[in-house]
Parts: sequence; C-alpha cells; structure tokens
Amino acid sequence: MAIKRSSQENKTPRKRTSPTSDQQNQEERLLSSEITVQETQSSEDGIRPQKLADYIGQKELKKILNIAIAAAKVRQEPLDHLLLYGPPGLGKTTMSLILASEMGVNCKITAAPALERPRDITGLLIALKPGDILFIDEIHRLNRMAEELLYPAMEDCRLDITIGKGQSAKIRSIPLPPFTLVGATTKVGSLTSPLRDRFGLIQRLRFYEIDELTLIVKRTAAILMVTITETGAEEIARRSRGTPRIANRLLKRVRDYAQVEKSDTINQTLAAEALDIFNVDARGLDWTDRLVLSTVIEQFNGGPVGLEAIAAATGEDAKTIEEVYEPYLLQIGYLNRTHRGRVVTQAAYEHLGKIKL
Ligand code: ADE
Repeated sequence: MAIKRSSQENKTPRKRTSPTSDQQNQEERLLSSEITVQETQSSEDGIRPQKLADYIGQKELKKILNIAIAAAKVRQEPLDHLLLYGPPGLGKTTMSLILASEMGVNCKITAAPALERPRDITGLLIALKPGDILFIDEIHRLNRMAEELLYPAMEDCRLDITIGKGQSAKIRSIPLPPFTLVGATTKVGSLTSPLRDRFGLIQRLRFYEIDELTLIVKRTAAILMVTITETGAEEIARRSRGTPRIANRLLKRVRDYAQVEKSDTINQTLAAEALDIFNVDARGLDWTDRLVLSTVIEQFNGGPVGLEAIAAATGEDAKTIEEVYEPYLLQIGYLNRTHRGRVVTQAAYEHLGKIKL
C-alpha cells in the first residue's frame, strides 16, 4: 500500500528534520510522565491536593476510597493494603499522601529499586507507627527477599528475620504495628500472585479527561498565581496526554513564555504558541510519538508490525516505546494492538496529514 501525502502537507511540504539531542531531551522531559527529582522534592508539593475532596478526577477510585476511609475510621483500624496501578503521572503517590492525611497518619515513601538489601525493608517496617502508610513505588520490581519479608508483615503484622546461616539459621519474629501498604505499579501483570493476593484493594488509575485536566490546570494556575483563561487552560489540557503531571509541567513552561512575552494572561493563542515552540502538538504528541506512528505507516504499511521491528526502525528502545509512548497512543485510538502486532489507525493518519490508500 503506497502512502500519499495529504493535500495539506503538499501545500506546506515539511521536511522531517531530526531534532538535536538537546532539543529532544528537553521535549522528552516535558512530556515524560515520569516524575523528576525536582518534582518529587519541592515543586509538586505545593501543588498536590491534600484532601480527597480537592483531588480532581478518578471518580470511581475516590468513591471506593471514601468508603474504605470512613469504615476504617469507625473501626479504628488502618486501611486495608492497597495496590494502585496504571500509567505513570496519574497520581498514585498523591493518592497515597492524601490517604495518610485523611487517616491522620504518616506516609513513608520509597521505591522497590531502593530496597535492595533485606535491611532496607526491615528498617522501614520497624520504624512504622500504628496506622502508618508505607508507599512502595514500582512494586513489581521488588526482589524476592524483600517480597518474602513483606508477606508476614502484610498478613500478620510480623517481621520474620533469619539469624545465622545454613543449618544453624533461626527465624526470629518481631511484632509490627498494624500498617497499610500502598503499592504502586505501571505493570500489574508483573506482580507475583502471592503479593497481589495480599492486597485487599486493587485499583486502577485512568487517564484523565480534558475537562478534568482543565480543572487541574486552573487549580495549579491559581496556586502559582498565574492568570489563565478557560480556553488557555483547555489548550494545555488537550496537550497533556491525559496526565496531570504533564499538565502541570506544561503550564509552567507556558508561564515562562508568557513572562518573556510580557503577557499577564495565558489565553489559548499564547498557550498554543508556547507549546508549538516546545514541539508539543495539538494532541500532546512529541517528536518520538510522531516518529513511531510515521515509521509504522511508511515502513510497514500501517502494520501490523511487532514492537521489536518498530524499535529497530526508529532507533528507540522497545521497552520505552511500550511503557512510555504506546499507552497514550492506544488511549487516544491512534494505535491498536492486535495478536499480529501494532496497527496505526485512520485517526493517526489524519493527525499526521497522511492519506491511507
Ligand atoms: N494536581 C495533580 N493531580 C491533581 C489532581 N488529580 N487533582 C487536583 N490537583 C492535582
């Protein structure tokens, strides 16, 4: 099947120029849903909602958690262990902090790759106070030893420590206060079933709707004391890949642009201008998203094609394509996954100004 350029593209022929690596890195950081060190430490803290009532979106999840919180408070017990899964940037850490604040307890935050040695996890567990929340990000990456220490801790509030080696090894059990484990993962299918089965609540976070992201952008703008119009907020929301973390990051870049342009209000034109400069297109796609789609179209007739073949043809890492780029392209219906491979949809052809013959 030959690919013909659309009339629009014929009128304004666009050369596909490779971005410089600096430019590409900058774009990647802007649209990556991964949290940055800076965001973990400070800039997200003032922006994160503190109470469930201030948390925008994820209606189903909020409903379920409201019930769990109310019931746990009446019983004067900690919340059940909770597993949150879904793409990065959708608010798993924020939700864990909110649960701690609603329950009036502390939240200890860690990530599985930081729990390499048994003492890393035992240290955290021993320091917990009654009712505390232990948040473990990327929980699918826990090693076996850490995971096996968690089983009796989750089930019986007990830490089983092995003392000595070989035949003389003994197990000493240390009682732990009742606590709540909140596990977060982007890959729920990679969790072992014994670990998954120990969570009382397993909940998925979904991509946000444009109207929800618009509210989030307006809320953050108010916190940052930035004036933004409804359509300005909507423009940022539309380009945020369904992800609050990206919406807030784009808002900050648009704020910079407004400042340089000496504009005291962010309106739709200004937001669109700024985001065009940052190469974030009208649907929030960046250079790599467009490269993935146009490669499947031009080199594989739109698919079906396997992930490895796309990776080889684009020079991108297969895992990065699968975990960072694909979820949103699937969500907006630009890509389909079939048993024979990935297929680009008509909507993607139209977005890229290409015609499927
Ligand atoms: N900031 C980031 N995520 C948010 C959310 N879901 N609601 C309100 N503010 C947010």
